[in-house]
Amino acid sequence: MDKGNETALAAQSQAEQCISSEMRSIHKQIRVAMAEYLNKNSEELHRLAGLRQQGWSNPAGDTFFRNQRQSADNADSKLARIFFNLMQQIGEELHLNTDAFAARCTRGKAPKILDMCMAPGGFLSTALSKSPGSTAVAFTLPPSDGGHDILLSKRLDRRVQTRYADITMFAKDMGVDTIPTSHPDAANFLPRQLEPSRAFDLAICDGQVLRTHKRPEYREAREARRLSMTQFAMGLKHLRAGGTMVILLHKLDSYETASLVQTFGEFSSVKLFKPTKAHTRKSSFYMVASNVQSQQPAALEAIEQWKRKWRVATFGTNEEALELLRDDLKGVEVLLETFGADLVRMGKDVWQTQADALAKTSFIRNSAGTTATAGPSQES
Ligand SMILES: C[S@@+](CC[C@H](N)C(=O)[O-])C[C@H]1O[C@@H](n2cnc3c(N)ncnc32)[C@H](O)[C@@H]1O
Repeated sequence: MDKGNETALAAQSQAEQCISSEMRSIHKQIRVAMAEYLNKNSEELHRLAGLRQQGWSNPAGDTFFRNQRQSADNADSKLARIFFNLMQQIGEELHLNTDAFAARCTRGKAPKILDMCMAPGGFLSTALSKSPGSTAVAFTLPPSDGGHDILLSKRLDRRVQTRYADITMFAKDMGVDTIPTSHPDAANFLPRQLEPSRAFDLAICDGQVLRTHKRPEYREAREARRLSMTQFAMGLKHLRAGGTMVILLHKLDSYETASLVQTFGEFSSVKLFKPTKAHTRKSSFYMVASNVQSQQPAALEAIEQWKRKWRVATFGTNEEALELLRDDLKGVEVLLETFGADLVRMGKDVWQTQADALAKTSFIRNSAGTTATAGPSQES
């Protein structure tokens, strides 16, 4: 390598380091601002934060969540069936509390359901059963790529058009016509999946990045964002006006999730619910957005914003990712001012359910009174 090249590379690496360090600092500022406000204003979040801290201080917490992950990643057919039944039960509980799966017909036509990440199919099974005559289009990661098997009954499966695909590769649906030839996955992006005018009454967005998904290393850091942006943008784009969306979310106390809930509130009626059947110790919960006015300017703008985030997460440089993060930092104060009180009210039950469940775990009961800094942050 000649001297000029060496100098250019060193400068590039230094610039990348600066970007990474600014990103870390912004992430921290956002976290601190959210935590300060919520700790002060929500009793439930304050209690949950204390319990999380206790959990992080106890290595038994790590072991507990690691064992859970291991058993989920190595599920045999018996465990896969248990997981499917559990998803059905969670679906029932969610429906009972929020009316989530009652897809209503429009102008006498049977309801149409879009499931963005279907397997094993517990939610879809519940949704199809609640709406007689309904049919579905369902995407799901191929089992050969590490996706789950579909366990829908034959009777219900007949009403479903299943499409095996990695939905994060739906470039055309996400508004990208030309793929840069230098992209490491250039040949793997997929053509349009849904005609622009295709409309559904219910969209289920219950996808979660799987550790078993075989994908190249370079995708790791941005994969969760790519998956959620695809689900939200396609789900909302193809929802008829007045339809319902069911969305799996994590960490309501994070800026990203809270601002998503606020955004949905601009064009739909939002309920948050954390089921008690399972996953109670984790930060996951569901948002049910009903009467979604999917054609309103705020909804159309949200779709464009999610597509942009997908594009940056898929093709963008770190500099572009940093730009988005700077926007988030500018948005925190506004979010807390305009939505903070609603967030506290809406989060009450979600945080309380998680806190109650964490308080009962052995690793919290055995670690009462201690504090530390590292631990099972993903799960909490
Ligand atoms: C929590 S499970 C969904 C459970 C399902 N809703 C049910 O009720 O049975 C998460 C799903 O996300 C899917 N998934 C994860 N990454 C995906 C991707 N890139 N493309 C398509 N599906 C994906 C997985 O295959 C899995 O089916």
